[in-house]
Amino acid sequence: MVSVHNDISKVLFSEQDLANRVREIGENITADYAEVAGEAGIVVISVLRGGAVYTCDLIRCIDMPLEVDFMAVSSYGSGVKSSGVVRILKDLNTDIRGRHVIVAEDIIDSGLTLKYLLEMLQSRGPASLAVAALLRKDVPNQADIDCRYTGFECPDEFIVGYGLDYAEHYRNLPYIGVLKPEIYQ
Ligand code: IMP
Ligand code: MG
Repeated sequence: MVSVHNDISKVLFSEQDLANRVREIGENITADYAEVAGEAGIVVISVLRGGAVYTCDLIRCIDMPLEVDFMAVSSYGSGVKSSGVVRILKDLNTDIRGRHVIVAEDIIDSGLTLKYLLEMLQSRGPASLAVAALLRKDVPNQADIDCRYTGFECPDEFIVGYGLDYAEHYRNLPYIGVLKPEIYQ
């Protein structure tokens, strides 16, 4: 049997760490939006594919009326570095004008993808627009992004699991870890 666990050199955030932190973010969102959400509630936008696992856990920790919608974007760029030019592969089905919107993103690395996405969403006239990123990498020259909720700061290593992939694999790991170097080589 081929196990995905064998390719991981180090676990950074365990299944329990993730569950605990995602619950806290959900509780914070519930408290912060209780007044403004009203009957229409909020719109949580998940950025595919990396953000899908996190989003599905996060929305179940938010207690208020809520819609969830998905966007798929691809960043033009060579290999693992993004260029800041983003192509929309799948747009929202929801009209976000006048709505309170939270973007659930897996990880902010250079921040370029998210910066572009936020400008595009802002142009559609939401009542408010906030970011709930699970991870924020500690990298130099990261784009200046106002991230209202951050799960964890993480080191500048290539990580996988809980939605994050390497070559489309490892998204199904229940924890977040670092890949063994021989996997890239
Ligand atoms: P950014 O535009 O450089 O901030 O990165 C955008 C996207 O690259 C993220 O939303 C992730 O999908 C992906 N990404 C960045 N760093 C990693 C990583 O360490 N592992 C897996 N995917 C990553
Ligand atoms: Mg992503």
